[in-house]
Amino acid sequence: MYQVPSRIQPEIEMINGDFKGKDIVSLDQFSVEDLTVLFNHTRQMKRIAENNEPSRLLEGLLVGLLFFEPSSRTFGSFAAAVKRLGGQTIEMQNPEVFSSVSKGETFEDTIQVMEAYTNAIVLRHRFSGAAKQAALAANFVPVINAGDGNNEHPTQTLLDMYTLYERFGRLDNLTGLLAGDALNSRTIHSLLRGLSLYENNTMYVLSPRQLQLSRDDYVSLQDRGIRLIEIHREQDIPKNCDFWYWTRVQKERFASAEEYQKAQSEIVVASPELLKTYAKKDMILMDPLPRVESVDPAVDADERAVYLRSQIRNGVYTRMALLALVLGRL
Ligand code: CP
Repeated sequence: MYQVPSRIQPEIEMINGDFKGKDIVSLDQFSVEDLTVLFNHTRQMKRIAENNEPSRLLEGLLVGLLFFEPSSRTFGSFAAAVKRLGGQTIEMQNPEVFSSVSKGETFEDTIQVMEAYTNAIVLRHRFSGAAKQAALAANFVPVINAGDGNNEHPTQTLLDMYTLYERFGRLDNLTGLLAGDALNSRTIHSLLRGLSLYENNTMYVLSPRQLQLSRDDYVSLQDRGIRLIEIHREQDIPKNCDFWYWTRVQKERFASAEEYQKAQSEIVVASPELLKTYAKKDMILMDPLPRVESVDPAVDADERAVYLRSQIRNGVYTRMALLALVLGRL
């Protein structure tokens, strides 16, 4: 018998205190109160994961992981999050080769097939806007954006902000340095949206001119009240930052290898010398990873470098909390 669609929606909804059944497409859907709820649950999830506590929070539920672009952390941590909470996954990586997309199946059909088998879909795609397109195509289950082109990566920002919150006990009155490919980094785009929800944050954005934020992004972020200062040279790095957030040049977004190489050659690499010259003793160095000629591995031993420590682990805990909220189990 034909199932009547349970959710015809013309637009993506704000969370507005209720995560249940909501698509997670952009940081713009969150308020400070929503983030507080999520981070409170994240602490509980951290305890479950760290102690290997058996959990049945997602028992009986299936989450589809539909990844049209490669991933180590987002894919691995979503799979871990579901399984830590007693749920199960259906995993499709590279559907353009390994699914009927290769035979010409439309994107909307693939989404509607996946939702017939699952309770939520986690989607990564190379096209900006694909997550919203999927969310509007899905008639029954929520869609979570796991990174869409150079647009947004909201769940990365949830773990980045949780990492900052754990370290500083606040998300306001922070000074940060965001470095690398500001034009194409979806993690920078979402993080700036998230930090703009809080008072008195100042963000320096260090990039070659051709990789600075798009003017549309720059203006719309400034309008939200976050203080943005664009810099292009190592010498202009301020010495009072609470955190650094390094990103790689997004090779896959460039039209040619030459353009990529030129941009890469102009990037400032986070090295032990750079930290020694410009970084505070109590700051943290973050990187959403993967790092590709962006952070020198010699920095890893510095206790201020959290990218291979708390930051990647927080990806599991925040995604556990988000899934349990969206699936109505919290
Ligand atoms: N940070 C991040 O999104 O990493 P992956 O591309 O490996 O998922």
